[in-house]
Amino acid sequence: MTLKDYAALIDARLAELLPEAEKKIPDTDEIPWLLENAMRYSVMAGGKRLRPAMLLACADMLGVNRAEALLDACALEMIHTYSLIHDDLPGMDNDTLRRGRPTNHVVFGEGQAILAGDGLLSYAMELMLQNAMAYPEHSARHILAMNDIMAGAGVGGMVGGQCMDLYCEREHISDERLLSYIHVNKTSRMLTSPLRAAAALAGFAPDSPETTALTVYGVKFGLLFQAVDDILDVVGDEKTLGKSIGKDAEEGKLTYVTLYGLEGACKRADALAAEARDSLAIFGDRAAFFVKLLDDMTHRVA
Ligand code: IPE
Ligand code: IPE
Ligand code: MG
Ligand code: MG
Ligand code: MG
Repeated sequence: MTLKDYAALIDARLAELLPEAEKKIPDTDEIPWLLENAMRYSVMAGGKRLRPAMLLACADMLGVNRAEALLDACALEMIHTYSLIHDDLPGMDNDTLRRGRPTNHVVFGEGQAILAGDGLLSYAMELMLQNAMAYPEHSARHILAMNDIMAGAGVGGMVGGQCMDLYCEREHISDERLLSYIHVNKTSRMLTSPLRAAAALAGFAPDSPETTALTVYGVKFGLLFQAVDDILDVVGDEKTLGKSIGKDAEEGKLTYVTLYGLEGACKRADALAAEARDSLAIFGDRAAFFVKLLDDMTHRVA
């Protein structure tokens, strides 16, 4: 299975979970058509589906029943999409292009975009809880997986990283330790949690050698991923990327490129790829998907 194969599986399930809604006064307990369509707009706009694909690929590698992991993977993509909708808001990065489309707030207005993000986050949690309840024999594993996903997305994870990202921008701070905090939290944590969640579903303890190795991979992979994101914001093509470029410099963001320069950022990405590859040793040939992913993401253009 390739990244594209996994993405197709996830797209199909997401389309079922977020159907197109017709305008009508909602029944009690029903999702308003406006909210449903605003959530669907950003989720179904595409995207690489990297985080859910990593969850499913890791589940496959560790022998988890794929059906048991699919809803958690979709939930993770919903959380990621919420983070993008909010990241683009005028009060945050103030972006107008995302996944090749006008951003959510441009189409639905700022208030509805905030709610679409809130909606995706809470809907994701509902779906994961429903999934856990469908497998009572594995409830401890599911609770552990949910904990990884929510902790990675939350205040000591993605939200915390976004907080410091904005802080450094507004206060014009350029500091190596803060950059590391920002990138590990805003990006790596949401790329580590799919792997830790898959390990939890496979029955591995949080401190097992397998989960530890996957955590090291996720952190390095995330840093590599954000280094390339920062590089593409300078040298990328807006049409291919599906999001605006040059915004980091315009907003005065603290990035790999501002701190180390373009060449330094590229070198850093290569070193991180090598370190991430080493961390997979205990899985041998079974980790082929994750070895290839390093190469694909180092050389990506979108
Ligand atoms: C963008 O994530 C946000 C970052 C962490 C850099 P992706 O590059 O995975 O965005 P999509 O999901 O493909 O749109
Ligand atoms: C955002 O980082 C990471 C998130 C948690 C959404 P960026 O602000 O660099 O992501 P892009 O470049 O807008 O996708
Ligand atoms: Mg941002
Ligand atoms: Mg942004
Ligand atoms: Mg960026």
